[in-house]
Order: sequence, then C-alpha cells, then structure tokens
Amino acid sequence: MENVIEIRGIIRNFQLGQETVYVLKGIDLDIIRGEYLAIMGPSGSGKSTLMNLLGCLDTPTGGTYTLNGNDVSKMTDNELADIRNREIGFVFQTFNLLPRTTALDNVALPMVYAGISKKDRTTRAEEVLTDVGLSDRMDHKPNQLSGGQRQRVAVGRALVNKPSIILADEPTGNLDSKTSLEIMQLFDEIHAAGNTVILVTHEEEVAEHAHRVIRLRDGMIESDVRNR
Ligand SMILES: Nc1ncnc2c1ncn2[C@@H]1O[C@H](COP(=O)(O)OP(=O)(O)O)[C@@H](O)[C@H]1O
Ligand SMILES: [Mg+2]
Repeated sequence: MENVIEIRGIIRNFQLGQETVYVLKGIDLDIIRGEYLAIMGPSGSGKSTLMNLLGCLDTPTGGTYTLNGNDVSKMTDNELADIRNREIGFVFQTFNLLPRTTALDNVALPMVYAGISKKDRTTRAEEVLTDVGLSDRMDHKPNQLSGGQRQRVAVGRALVNKPSIILADEPTGNLDSKTSLEIMQLFDEIHAAGNTVILVTHEEEVAEHAHRVIRLRDGMIESDVRNR
C-alpha cells in the first residue's frame, strides 16, 4: 500500500537562549493513504511539535519527511506554503477562525490563496458548510456560534481545498462530551470519504474512533497499535 507520509529519524530541537531543548528525538513513522490515526501521549511529549511538522507548519532539525513522494525537508518556504494549501487541512483546538468574518468567508479564505474566483469560492464554501451541517449559519460570525459550530466551520475551512490529509490537534479539547462526539462523527465521515485523518487527543473515547494509535513519550514513539 502507498505511504502518504514517510518520516525517518526526525529530530526537532528548539534553541532557547543558550539552552537547546530536545523535543523530538528520532521519530520513524509511515502512514498509509486513507489511514485514521490518533496520536496520544502526556502533555509535553511532543505531539503538537510532530503535528506541526506533519502539517508543514514547521521544518525538522534533522531527519527526512516525505509527503506524497516529495521530500519536504528540502522545500523552500514557498513550496511549503503551496503544499500546505493543496494537500493539508489543519484543525486546531482553539478553532483559529477570523473573529469579524462570517462562517462563509472563513471557509472561503483558503481558496483566495489558491486563486479561485469569487463566484466559485462562494459556491464551494456553501457546499462545504452544508456538508458540515451549517447550511443555516453561513452568515454568522464566530461569536454568534457555539463551540461545536465554530469547530465545524474550522473543519469546513480545512476541507475546502479538498486536501488528501486532515490533521487535527486536540480538536475536541475545548468541547463538551456531546459536542465532541458530534465532531468525531464528522471526522469519521471525512475518513470514510477516503481522506487520511491524523488527530491528537488525550481522550481514550476520541482515540477509539481511529484505527491506529501511536503513543509518544518524551519525544519518541512508545507504542504503535492498529485496532482494526
Ligand atoms: N518553540 C518552542 N521553543 C522551545 N520549546 C518548545 C517550543 N515548542 C515546543 N517546545 C517544547 O517542546 C515540548 C513539547 O511540546 P508540544 O509538542 O507542544 O507537546 P504536547 O503537544 O505533546 O503537549 C515542551 O516541553 C515544550 O515546552
Ligand atoms: Mg499539544
């Protein structure tokens, strides 16, 4: 089967003044196209650092990252921005929506960078908001939406350019358990539609939605288990 992601010996250090902080200490990871993966591990174990690398929001100190057969470690900032916009949808714990912007325009924004016409942006954003269950909230701004609805907008924004990989860093971390389940059902649908889904969580009930669970400890993979 085809690996959408291949990581070899990934190291990530941060320089804090004179001190070097060693966060990822040699990660090897293959992810097959269409996998549904949860990343777990204690706070500070390096989950978000790894997700930022996977999402091309950051580059490693050492090792190689191959995404869809392309060596990300060698890309320029422009190439990274381009691959991020085309291949990756990122969902964050704190939603990260533009506050004074409607749900429709939040979802349409990534298509501006992709150079799509205004008319096509609106049509596609309406379609995606309908898919995430917000057809009656398109003109609402984030502060006029519940937490779960805001996260739906963020999921819609992540999906709008039809990326092959959806990354979500604790997407239910700010939601109650009922709303968390609704958001996880959305990720289940996204996975069922053929996408690769990778999410970070520290809730076992959330991780149970995934088909494979990786546990990080102190910047290394402690275990890697396929459930089904
Ligand atoms: N930009 C940075 N500069 C220095 N240290 C960092 C930076 N980003 C993360 N770290 C450190 O890396 C460790 C792992 O962080 P993180 O990946 O956010 O963990 P997790 O998401 O598993 O809670 C923490 O000790 C954190 O302080
Ligand atoms: Mg984190």
